[in-house]
Amino acid sequence: MRKIYIFDTTLRDGEQSPGVNLNTQEKVEIALQLEKLGVDRIEAGFPAASPGDLAAVNAVARAVKNATVIGLARSREQDVDAVVEALKGAKNPGIHLFLATSPIHRKHKLRMEKEQVLETADRVIRYAKQFFDKIEFSPEDAGRTELDFLCEVTEMAIKAGATVVNIPDTVGYLTPYEFGNIFKTLKEKVPSIDTIQLSAHCHDDLGMATANALAAILNGADQIEGTINGIGERAGNTSLEEVALTLETRAEYFQAKTSLNLKEIARTSRLVSKLTGMVVPGNKAIVGANAFAHESGIHQDGMLKEKSTYEIISPETIGLKDSKLVLGKHSGRHAFREKLVDLGYEQLTEDQVNAAFGKFKDLADRKKNVSDEDIRALLEEKIIETPE
Ligand code: KIV
Ligand code: ZN
Repeated sequence: MRKIYIFDTTLRDGEQSPGVNLNTQEKVEIALQLEKLGVDRIEAGFPAASPGDLAAVNAVARAVKNATVIGLARSREQDVDAVVEALKGAKNPGIHLFLATSPIHRKHKLRMEKEQVLETADRVIRYAKQFFDKIEFSPEDAGRTELDFLCEVTEMAIKAGATVVNIPDTVGYLTPYEFGNIFKTLKEKVPSIDTIQLSAHCHDDLGMATANALAAILNGADQIEGTINGIGERAGNTSLEEVALTLETRAEYFQAKTSLNLKEIARTSRLVSKLTGMVVPGNKAIVGANAFAHESGIHQDGMLKEKSTYEIISPETIGLKDSKLVLGKHSGRHAFREKLVDLGYEQLTEDQVNAAFGKFKDLADRKKNVSDEDIRALLEEKIIETPE
């Protein structure tokens, strides 16, 4: 099985979620939990962005022992200097440099010709090489960059000293087929490609960030960048937990695995949600409150007979206790009876259960969530009403 490296950018791209602002202590707390989760690389922030972010990256760099701690920098010497300063005391430091390469960004943002882009990136990667062994270079908006030029940029970055070339779909524009094809092409056409790691960085503007990351893996990516709970700029980044669980569940298909300690996923998700204030939607894959909850009678009956009928991942895999059978209007007698036993009403006669089930269905038509308390109330009423 091929190992897929996990580059976590919760503390950098994740922090770029509108409304999120992590202080130093919060960044350190998340970074230490990411270490427990076993991520390989932690992008702790963008030191040139503010003195506060520089200090926070430094605190993370000093606290983290195993993962590589990385600071982001534009392709400018002052940004590199800020990362050097921020990573003082780091056991495993690394830098992530980026420069936009797409025609739209070259024309409107950078006002640079292709040659200037190549020269600037080459110069700054070489400058960074004096300070860092681990250099990642990202051609920003690679997803909308001409493929030939992207190959040229990639070869330049490798020759200048990059050890990882990361391909960002910065605006979440591509489909899995197109994104996978970029990796296939780079593998075929860039002469020095096998001397470095290739990485994928996807955004979720069209809801394809995880699918695109998986397409990159199928086409030779060594590293996936993303965030916990998929937080990040605009619609967010690839959800790392989705990638890790897909590789775990479909290992034979992908022939690739991360080395994450999956049992830490639920805890990490809760911590990130608490400290960023970004609530995880109930229907979010893997970490949403409903990801292991079953409401319909048919599904509940299947689950009670054999869990694999409706669950492809066990909740224990990500550190949760158990699946939930939620009682609602779609629920059936089988789950209702199990709930009665759970609540201590195992002595009820068949007639009493049937009568209670009828009342429960009436209640479920009126109320979205039927709680344990509702069932108890209904049962007490029922038992009193039951004729001898
Ligand atoms: O989305 C993006 O292009 C980025 C770069 C800094 C890699 O976050
Ligand atoms: Zn990004």
